[in-house]
Amino acid sequence: METISNAHGLNLPKLGLGTWPMLDAECTRAVLSALELGYRHIDTAAAYNNEAAVGEALSTTDVPREHIHVTTKVWWDKLEPAALQASFEDSLKALRTDYVDLFLIHWPGRGDWNLQASLDALTALYESGRAKAIGVANFPLALMRQAVEELKAPLAALQVEYHVALDQQPLLDFCRQHQIALTAYSPLARNRLSDYQALQQIAHKHGVLPTQVALKWLLDQEGVAAIPKAASINNQRSNLEAFKVRLDDEDRALIAQLPKDQRLVSPDFAPKWD
Ligand SMILES: NC(=O)c1ccc[n+]([C@@H]2O[C@H](COP(=O)([O-])OP(=O)(O)OC[C@H]3O[C@@H](n4cnc5c(N)ncnc54)[C@H](OP(=O)(O)O)[C@@H]3O)[C@@H](O)[C@H]2O)c1
Repeated sequence: METISNAHGLNLPKLGLGTWPMLDAECTRAVLSALELGYRHIDTAAAYNNEAAVGEALSTTDVPREHIHVTTKVWWDKLEPAALQASFEDSLKALRTDYVDLFLIHWPGRGDWNLQASLDALTALYESGRAKAIGVANFPLALMRQAVEELKAPLAALQVEYHVALDQQPLLDFCRQHQIALTAYSPLARNRLSDYQALQQIAHKHGVLPTQVALKWLLDQEGVAAIPKAASINNQRSNLEAFKVRLDDEDRALIAQLPKDQRLVSPDFAPKWD
């Protein structure tokens, strides 16, 4: 599978398996079936309470650890350096691994949060080699600018909500300018794609599914990865087969006309979005 690499240690297969909100045996089963199908990128987080279930799959599978990209994240109430470090250690233990491929700040902090101190702690993990790459999630443009241009953090990836019904062009432009990968979460718009007739039309034209159209639209974009969550092996396979879809300019023009303001993930601790 095509991967996104950059100078800051990233090696990110374009399609990954999202694991939230799966727990326990369901999560372990889903990770194992995805690895069997050929997925080599698993997305988890301390806050998902499923790192141990992912760790169980990593230690059971025949696929060598070094062939699997694992992303995990630290929650926004643990961004003070000692807490961030402790969360990282807990994640490694639960995942039964001695490194992660990408370690992200899950959400920006609140109040008098010290961005520089958190980024320094993140960078120290990167420099130790135990986080092969580091990044952030849910950062709006102003915070990305501050982190990358002002504070010079060696960020390799940004994970944000991105799908056919949500525009992220300013963040995409910024990421491309700085060789930062953009991972699209909720790439299937949390299974609400059936709202969009244009997707059905494109899918019908190519003899594929609307979910595959939506995923391929993301995967065709330079520097963009996607992490659909799928519990069943059938949906996992279907998502992997999105790579076979060939979208043309007419399809992309139809997708460009969809509403682009459908943000689905915005908890009360979210930052002010762009
Ligand atoms: N950084 C963050 O703050 C953040 C926030 C949200 C999510 N995420 C990550 O992104 C991942 C994905 O996002 P998401 O779970 O919000 O939304 P999503 O991947 O857009 O949608 C998941 C939904 O789509 C269904 N689905 C998957 N493949 C399908 C297929 N081929 N046909 C029909 N239905 C299909 C799933 O059902 P089945 O499971 O039944 O297949 C599930 O109900 C999460 O698991 C998590 O790892 C990160």
